[in-house]
Amino acid sequence: MNLMVNPLQPVTRTLSIPGDKSISHRSVILGAIANGITSIDNFLPGQDCWSTVRCIRQLGVEITELAPNRLQVHGCSLDGLKEPDDYLDVGNSGTTMRLLAGVLAGQEFLSILTGDHTIRRRPMARIAEPLRQMGAQVWGRGNGRFAPLAIKGGHLRAIDYLTPVASAQIKSAVLLAGLYGQGVTSVTEPALSRDHTEKMLAAFGANIKIEGLTTSIGPGPLTAQPITVPGDISSAAFFLVAGAIVPGSCLTISKVGLNPTRTGILDVLREMGADITITNQSLTSGEPMGDITVSGHGLKGVSIGGSLIPRLIDEIPVLAVAAAAAEGTTIIRDATELKVKESNRLQAIATELRRFGVSIDETEDGLIIKGGRNYEGAVCESYHDHRIAMACALMGLVANGPTIVHGAECIDISFPGFESTLASLYE
Ligand code: S3P
Repeated sequence: MNLMVNPLQPVTRTLSIPGDKSISHRSVILGAIANGITSIDNFLPGQDCWSTVRCIRQLGVEITELAPNRLQVHGCSLDGLKEPDDYLDVGNSGTTMRLLAGVLAGQEFLSILTGDHTIRRRPMARIAEPLRQMGAQVWGRGNGRFAPLAIKGGHLRAIDYLTPVASAQIKSAVLLAGLYGQGVTSVTEPALSRDHTEKMLAAFGANIKIEGLTTSIGPGPLTAQPITVPGDISSAAFFLVAGAIVPGSCLTISKVGLNPTRTGILDVLREMGADITITNQSLTSGEPMGDITVSGHGLKGVSIGGSLIPRLIDEIPVLAVAAAAAEGTTIIRDATELKVKESNRLQAIATELRRFGVSIDETEDGLIIKGGRNYEGAVCESYHDHRIAMACALMGLVANGPTIVHGAECIDISFPGFESTLASLYE
């Protein structure tokens, strides 16, 4: 599918965006191994979350769809999952593969996890290694480094794991396996990654403790809880940047998740000079939420790196667009993780933004963007990466002339309805 985008005139709108992808995955996975029925409201009906639903159903769990964004997961308790009679296909979803691997490490039966061509290129040793230390057998292609992964677990021992990468997927895999360990398992990360798993495990009654960068968990049953998923700040980010880069615009995005481990994008846009206000703050299922209003009056370049990166890891492609529209130079460091996302995002965004005439260099661990020029519309590729496709579309808002994004169907992975929300800015 091709997405066509035209330059955008200043606009004032209130928008809503779909539910948070990370929280939607976790609500299905925890719901599956809890006792009781977990009702989920505002579930993200995106392809990645359907992959989790499909895999969990294959493990014998009943999931009722009351509406595309309202599910009921009939939990089968920690020990009630069944051996799947075929391989589990996670599609494009790294979260599904890595979090499920943690749960499957606790099962005595055999499971085989695979996915599309991009997921089969992404690093899996990072979860296979700690799960093996806990006593699970994990095999994979390339000496255990890549999917398909085969897992046969059960009888896990507790470990204290120091992860070299600040990754919520690694942390979550170990914590979920820890529910099946004998004793207290801990994970320490080098910087804080998103903590939705910890928050939801605590709400489900797990024996979990957080001290700085270390999270510990002991075995024990989970109790189903109703969950209302806040809007996904990573999807909101595209419209926050739209409001910030089209001077004279004012966009409000309602009911967005504001978990501090995810709000790095707000800190950076503010530092770049965007006006951001938050209203109607509340808590939904233990997660902070609010309406975000952004207006732009011309942005300036910034330098970002360090512990801020995990707090905006998925927003770097769209931040590169903000940087291209800003006056001056933006330097992004400490972002090597972007090379192993759905695509090599550093290379993909640099290649695609150059098509518009952006001066952008890829460095060892990030990007250097010299912004503030006049740009031409361009014909772009998505690399089958939803966030690259949406970032290219955003660049089209500030280019002179039309932009076409090839392969835009992948946007449905995380943001069904992106095209119509974008179109509403022109009405
Ligand atoms: C996610 C964690 C992040 C993020 C991904 C979703 C999650 O990955 O990039 O889109 O739901 O746990 P890492 O934690 O591996 O960086």
